[in-house]
Amino acid sequence: MKKLFALLLALVMVLSMTACGGGRTEPAPAANTPAEKPAEANSSTEAPAAAGGFEADATIGVSLPWLGTQNWKEAEEMFKTELEAAGFKPIIQAADNKVPTQQQQIESMIQNGAKVIVVGPIDGTQLGAVLEEAKAAGVYVIGYDRLLENTTGVDGVVQFGSVKTGELQAQALLDGLKAMKGEGPWNIELFGGGPADPNAPNFFKGAMSVLQPLIDDGTLTVVSGQTDFTQCATMDWDNAKAQARMDSLLSGFYSDKEIHGVLSPNDGIARAIITSCEQAGQKIPAISGLDAENESVEWVWSGRQYSTIAKPTDALVAQTIEIIKSLQAGNGMPATDVQVNNGKIDVLVYELPPVVVTKDNAKEVFANDPGRLELLK
Ligand code: BGC
Repeated sequence: MKKLFALLLALVMVLSMTACGGGRTEPAPAANTPAEKPAEANSSTEAPAAAGGFEADATIGVSLPWLGTQNWKEAEEMFKTELEAAGFKPIIQAADNKVPTQQQQIESMIQNGAKVIVVGPIDGTQLGAVLEEAKAAGVYVIGYDRLLENTTGVDGVVQFGSVKTGELQAQALLDGLKAMKGEGPWNIELFGGGPADPNAPNFFKGAMSVLQPLIDDGTLTVVSGQTDFTQCATMDWDNAKAQARMDSLLSGFYSDKEIHGVLSPNDGIARAIITSCEQAGQKIPAISGLDAENESVEWVWSGRQYSTIAKPTDALVAQTIEIIKSLQAGNGMPATDVQVNNGKIDVLVYELPPVVVTKDNAKEVFANDPGRLELLK
């Protein structure tokens, strides 16, 4: 009888260990600890979970804000290829800049048993509830390219330094002014990105830290006087809206003046601004950009757009997948020095360096990017 009892006890222990196989035993770093995964059976026999990790062929969700700029289209393709190559089952969706659509897509990724959900939010503050739900279900959440704000349901964020990006954009604008327009003072206008995107105010803040002292000492004149982010932002990163604003700035303030330079938060908006200037009969202003989109790489090469910034999607996707593999293996979130407060918690941030691209260094920057190198002809 005793033997039978001991046997039963051993069996129960083995069964309960198996049942915990899909869950995490190692807690993540303090502020970022998601709820313990609920006990669940490991249904896959082919891809067993490492202790504290999850199945090597687990479902991974990727929720993208939209596909309106080249970086998000690249992310969609690269996540599919790279997650499959790593043995995972990806569910990748883009939400066409509609917050309720993104909330529903994340919800369904949770229902479909995703172990990690990678999120590039449309609005950094509008996903709190669904991300808390993911956390309660034991799903890891990684912010991609943009910060996830005002929620405890985030384990880390992978991105290019956003304030740094803005500083580089402003520095490139100043270099462009010197190179293209001779000695100052210079007339400039300022553009920001979509106000819901947490990157946009950071890009602007970084840029203004460089430009404001020169506005104050008269080297730069913002002829319209529009220097607040709210005045300069471009709703939904919509190029057409930026072009319409530029049209009215030019007709309202520049009928008898040259515009020497424009701060632009990304390449699509830069091309819209350049087009507006060309149509108004202005000389092309010195301008910044972001993303090294193919069309802008061609424009930089032909001298139509002064600069862009490379933030290579393949590097960002590779960094994200490295984190997913660490989680899968039961090793938790990798260490990082950077933490950013998102309004609720300090979030681990894995930051990559953005790089300014002008005609002078384009060949160097794209030396390992055959697609873009091909455009430099
Ligand atoms: C990204 C940029 C992109 C913009 C609009 C930002 O959050 O960092 O690369 O151009 O969104 O899609």
